[in-house]
Amino acid sequence: MTAPLKIAIAGLGTVGGGTLRLLQRNALLLERRGGRRLIVVAVSARDRRRDRGADLRAVRWYEDPVAMASDPDIDVVVELIGGADGVAREVVETALAHGRHVVSANKALLAHHGTWLARLAEAHAVSLAFEAAVAGGIPILKALREGLAANEVTRLYGILNGTCNYILTEMRESGREFAEVLAEAQRLGYAESDPSFDIDGVDAAHKLALLAAVGFGIPVNFPGVHVEGIRHVSALDIEFASELGYHIKLLGLARRTENGLEQRVHPCMVPRSTPIAHVEGVFNAVVVEGDFAGRVMLEGRGAGAEPTASAVVADLLDIAAERWSPSFTIPVASLDTLAAAPMERHRGAYYVRLMVVDRPGVIADIAAALRDEQVSMEQMLQRGRAPGEAVPIVLTTHETEEAAMRRALLRIGALDSVLEPPRMIRVEDL
Ligand SMILES: NC(=O)c1ccc[n+]([C@@H]2O[C@H](COP(=O)([O-])OP(=O)(O)OC[C@H]3O[C@@H](n4cnc5c(N)ncnc54)[C@H](OP(=O)(O)O)[C@@H]3O)[C@@H](O)[C@H]2O)c1
Repeated sequence: MTAPLKIAIAGLGTVGGGTLRLLQRNALLLERRGGRRLIVVAVSARDRRRDRGADLRAVRWYEDPVAMASDPDIDVVVELIGGADGVAREVVETALAHGRHVVSANKALLAHHGTWLARLAEAHAVSLAFEAAVAGGIPILKALREGLAANEVTRLYGILNGTCNYILTEMRESGREFAEVLAEAQRLGYAESDPSFDIDGVDAAHKLALLAAVGFGIPVNFPGVHVEGIRHVSALDIEFASELGYHIKLLGLARRTENGLEQRVHPCMVPRSTPIAHVEGVFNAVVVEGDFAGRVMLEGRGAGAEPTASAVVADLLDIAAERWSPSFTIPVASLDTLAAAPMERHRGAYYVRLMVVDRPGVIADIAAALRDEQVSMEQMLQRGRAPGEAVPIVLTTHETEEAAMRRALLRIGALDSVLEPPRMIRVEDL
C-alpha cells in the first residue's frame, strides 16, 4: 500500500479553511483518485484559537510557517497566506529548498517570483503548482498544460477579476456610477476594504502574467503587462457601449503580434454577440485560441473558499499520483524568449467619448485632429442638442496604431471646446 501524502497547510483563512474541509469531506474519493490517502499533518496560521471549521486535534500546529516548511515529516506544503514577499515567499522557498512539493494560490508571489521559484523547484526535483492562483475554480492551467498541449496558442484572454466584473455588470444593469456600485460591492463582501488591487487591474495582471507564461511557454513577465483599471469607466460609457452593441469588460489579453507578445489588462468594448460578453457578476472566464483546437472557453467561479480549494486539491492529487510537470509546462531553461510588444505599437479599434461645448465647428476640429494623425473614424454619435452647453460626443475608429490614437487624443483634449480629458476604451475584435 502506497504511503499517504503528508500535507502541511500554511494559512487557514478563506482558501485554507476551504481546503481543509474539502480534504476531510472528500477523503475517500481523493484516496481512490490519487492512489493513496491525502492527509493533513501540520498547519500554521496566526491565531490558534480561531475555529477553522475542521477537526485539527491530530494535526501539528506551527506558530512559524517557515519552520513548518522544513519539517522532515511532510511531503508537500500548501501556501495560502498571500503577499508577493515576506512570510509567504519564505515558506515557499524554504519548502522547495528542502525538497518538498509546493502548491500555492498566491498569484502575487508567483507573478513576481514565479520563474525563479520554478527554477528552484526543478533544482530540487519537486513540483511547484498553482492552478488556484489563476481564475480560482477554473482549471485553465491544466487545460493549457494537458488538453491543449498540442497547440500553438495564438491568443488567450479572459475575465480574470470577479470584483471588477461584478461592478461593471451592476453598473450596466442599474445605470449607477462606479463609486456607488463599488461601495455596495464592499458592503456585500465582493470587494476588499482596500479595493485598489482589484479595481486598478493589478490582480488581473498577476493572473494574466501566469496564464501567458503557461500558455506561451515564456518566463513570467509581470512588469511587461500594460495595466489599466476600471475607475474611469462611467455610467455614460456603459450606456453608449450598449447603444453601439458592446458590453464593457475588464479583460486580460495576451497575443502574439509581429512586434512580439502583447500582454495587457484594461477595460474593453466586447461585442455583445460573443459568449464572453455574457459572463456576468463575479464569474470569470478564459478563452484560449489554439492553432488546431480553435477557440476554447472555460467559465466558472474565480474566487471563494470552495472553488479555490477545488483547484488547490486538484494540484495535490497530481502530486499524490506523481503526475506533475514543470510549472510552466517546459523546464525554465527551455522557455521561449518572446520579446514584449510595446503598447504604443498595439493596433486596434478605439471608442472615444468627449464632453464638448455644443457650438458650430467643434466636430470639424475633432475630425481635423484625427485626420492629421491618420486615424480613420468609423462612426460618431451625438446625443441631444443644447447650444452653448456641454454634450457628449462618442466616436469609434477603424483599426489604428495606439501611438497615433494617443497623439490625436492629446490634440483633441487641447481644444477649447473639449471640456474634460477624452475617455478612450479599446474595442476588441474577439
Ligand atoms: N480568497 C479567494 O477567493 C482566493 C482565490 C484565489 C486565490 N487566493 C489567494 O489565496 C491566498 C490566501 O487567500 P485567502 O483569501 O485565503 O486569505 P485570508 O483569508 O486572509 O487568509 C490568510 C491566512 O494566512 C494566515 N497568516 C497570515 N500571516 C501569517 C503568518 N505570518 N504566519 C502564519 N499564518 C499567517 C492567516 O492567519 P489567521 O487566520 O490566524 O489570521 C490566515 O489564516 C492569497 O494568496 C490569495 O491571493 C484567494
